[in-house]
Amino acid sequence: MLFFNEFMLMRVSFSEAVNRLNQGQVVAVPTETVYGLAALLCQENAIGEIFRLKGRPACNPLIIHVGAVEQCLELCSDLPPDFMKLAAAFWPGPLTMILPIQPDRVPEIARAKLPTAAFRLPKHEIARQLLLATSPFVAPSANLSGSPSATKPEHVEKDFGAGFPLLDGGSSLHGVESTILAHVDGAWQIVRLGALTAKQIGAVLGYLPECAVQTRENPISPGQLLQHYAPKAKLTLSLNAYESCPQKRPVVVGYGTREYHGAKRVYLLGDTIDPEQAAYRLYALLRELDLEGVESAWVDMDIPVEGLWQTVRERLARASLSK
Ligand code: TXA
Ligand code: MG
Repeated sequence: MLFFNEFMLMRVSFSEAVNRLNQGQVVAVPTETVYGLAALLCQENAIGEIFRLKGRPACNPLIIHVGAVEQCLELCSDLPPDFMKLAAAFWPGPLTMILPIQPDRVPEIARAKLPTAAFRLPKHEIARQLLLATSPFVAPSANLSGSPSATKPEHVEKDFGAGFPLLDGGSSLHGVESTILAHVDGAWQIVRLGALTAKQIGAVLGYLPECAVQTRENPISPGQLLQHYAPKAKLTLSLNAYESCPQKRPVVVGYGTREYHGAKRVYLLGDTIDPEQAAYRLYALLRELDLEGVESAWVDMDIPVEGLWQTVRERLARASLSK
């Protein structure tokens, strides 16, 4: 007879995930960017549980995931210009938009008491079906606050335990989070770099969205000021050639198209012409460093400053900041 113990994996079926969400429980769900910890927007206790589970500060609002644009419109008030254009082009997909909401329709706990909320319509088939079978849900990335995001079921189990209810949807296609846009001072600006590039968004808007300047006094997106995505290993980012690395036999995070003679071990992000692959591998690689007890690594940053590489660079930069 099977009985539950902590070593048994709690991969739940689709219908069990639907039941659990409807009953006010938190379930880890796949999306095309990274795994999320989902709770229905109408279940405030479950939303509170997400903050507790992640160790997430209450001032950091969550993204509301919807199954259709209409569900988003029901929760919002004045929509910024070009919202429909962006939704038509990129939803379902890895784009999140910050929108003004109707305060009585979006619980304060989900939006950290802000007059706006973040919305996204995910493309992952399981996530979409789940949204259509339930109702809008909030879903932050399914990692402990500050740790690398989860792109595989085993990453979620590492952070929350093997007994945590998880809907298995395989490895996340993009491997980095959605790009977040906010309409500020008359134009859409990028408040978090992500899976969608500025160029892709610019092609739809007719102008290239700039990266928002964020300060402690003016944090357009509160989460962007928090320490993030970091493994335990100390990462040293280097624009210089590997030959100039002062360390003897370093552990290297680099690219298959390059030689790192004498390195103790090389962790590959792929090759230097494939930013999609680097993004896809990034968090799994950072987690692997921890699993293997790596204390420090030299990171090859001689990569382009454009497109999806910008997102990879930004995540590596944050991962290198000490906790
Ligand atoms: O790809 C993704 O977006 C994933 C998957 C699971 O959908 N989710 C995700 O959620 O990355 P999370 O909670 O890890 O990041 C949400 C970010 C935070 O930086 C938060 O500060 C910002 O969105 N955010 C949420 N609501 C906001 C608002 N009203 N104004 C500004 N920023 C907001
Ligand atoms: Mg996150």
